[in-house]
Amino acid sequence: MMDIVTKAPRGTSDKLPSDIYKWQTIEKIAAQVAETYGCKEIRTPTFEHTELFQRGVGSTTDVVQKEMYTFNDKKGRSITLKPEGTAGAVRAALENGLLNEALPLKMYYFTKCFRYEAPQKGRWREFNQFGVEIFGANSPLSDAEAICMVEDIFKFLGLENIKLEINSIGCPECRARYQQALREYYGQYTEQLCDTCKERLEKNPLRLLDCKSEVCHSFAEKAPVILDYLCDSCKEHFEGVKKALDDMKVKYTVNPYIVRGLDYYTNTVFEFIDDSCGTQGTVCGGGRYNGLVEEIGGKSMAGLGFAMGIERILMVMDTQKAEYEQPKECDLFIAGTDPDSSRYALTLVRQLREFGFWAECDIVGRSLKAQMKYADKIGAKFSMVIGETEIKEGSAQLKNMKTGEKTVVSIGDKFAERVNSILMEIE
Ligand code: HAM
Repeated sequence: MMDIVTKAPRGTSDKLPSDIYKWQTIEKIAAQVAETYGCKEIRTPTFEHTELFQRGVGSTTDVVQKEMYTFNDKKGRSITLKPEGTAGAVRAALENGLLNEALPLKMYYFTKCFRYEAPQKGRWREFNQFGVEIFGANSPLSDAEAICMVEDIFKFLGLENIKLEINSIGCPECRARYQQALREYYGQYTEQLCDTCKERLEKNPLRLLDCKSEVCHSFAEKAPVILDYLCDSCKEHFEGVKKALDDMKVKYTVNPYIVRGLDYYTNTVFEFIDDSCGTQGTVCGGGRYNGLVEEIGGKSMAGLGFAMGIERILMVMDTQKAEYEQPKECDLFIAGTDPDSSRYALTLVRQLREFGFWAECDIVGRSLKAQMKYADKIGAKFSMVIGETEIKEGSAQLKNMKTGEKTVVSIGDKFAERVNSILMEIE
């Protein structure tokens, strides 16, 4: 019973203050890069009506069938914690009329996602995604642009050698022909397929291609390849994407077995893969979804996007020893020799904070010695001791904690400005 109170639920994790600068670095860079591509941030609710995901993500997918956190609210409505960000973004764009504005519409988001999967290295039940969705762009250049955006984010994070695999799963027409071919091919082995794949054979044969069971996996090698079933227009689109990527010197391999786990994709699909996350190597996945806006009740409109798992990016960053933006350090600790001086110190600290410094003073009632020990512990760059004499004389000594050098500063008017110019001179 106690464990339930003292331990976080399985598959979740705390992001601790000591590590948060890593998250902030990734979030800052991802947002900055996305903004150079003209994306604006959107924030949508953590939960949506279950039907949105059934329709949007697809009722035959593992995500919808097995992994959703679904519950009835007090009025008996079925609610689901978002398993991914795309469906909510489409719903929000439609509901708020964003698709009637200038197109293409480009949006980015950070979102928590929830999937009831078996937790393992790189796989969580609650995880964080950074995603981008682009609406109203059907040229192959938009696929290439989205892929480049991911590449640029990796580049600015200092990440290297993340493999890009691309594929086209065609439009509904070419996919129907391909699905039929798959049914015929796998139909020869029905008895040997795993139970899930037996079911998939009828409902969603594409999913057989990335079944992890050894037997099903062995059949995939000789299965028909989607690229042989693309209609002329889908072929041309895919060629256009590849050409634009070639022009920008983006390295990729075409992997005809990438089908993605969500139903909304059409044409281009892609994944960025790295080995540092063990078997959960996909750090980013995305693609085009030209039927999704209509599926969710809008008019027919092209769409595409991607999402990266931030936990996985962090694992790659750590493995590659990529550099994070270092956390800020405490600029100044002002110690007080007695309660009155400590109160005075607090007023000085406030002035420094208004100026943008990270300043601290004693708020727990420690002895002077203990205050200085604490200042050392938090890595304060400068310190100052305030006592009766300093207050009377209106000046105190600013001590550089590294060199021990001391400078006299007036603690009267414009104290923060004075500290600022001294620190600027030193730095
Ligand atoms: P997804 O491939 O399901 O696509 O997820 C995107 C990324 O989220 C994955 O590549 C992975 O890095 C991360 N991820 C997925 N599941 C987990 C998990 N259980 N634990 C940790 N990380 C995970 C989507 O969600 C689509 N909405 C992407 C998209 C946006 N497509 C078009 N627009």
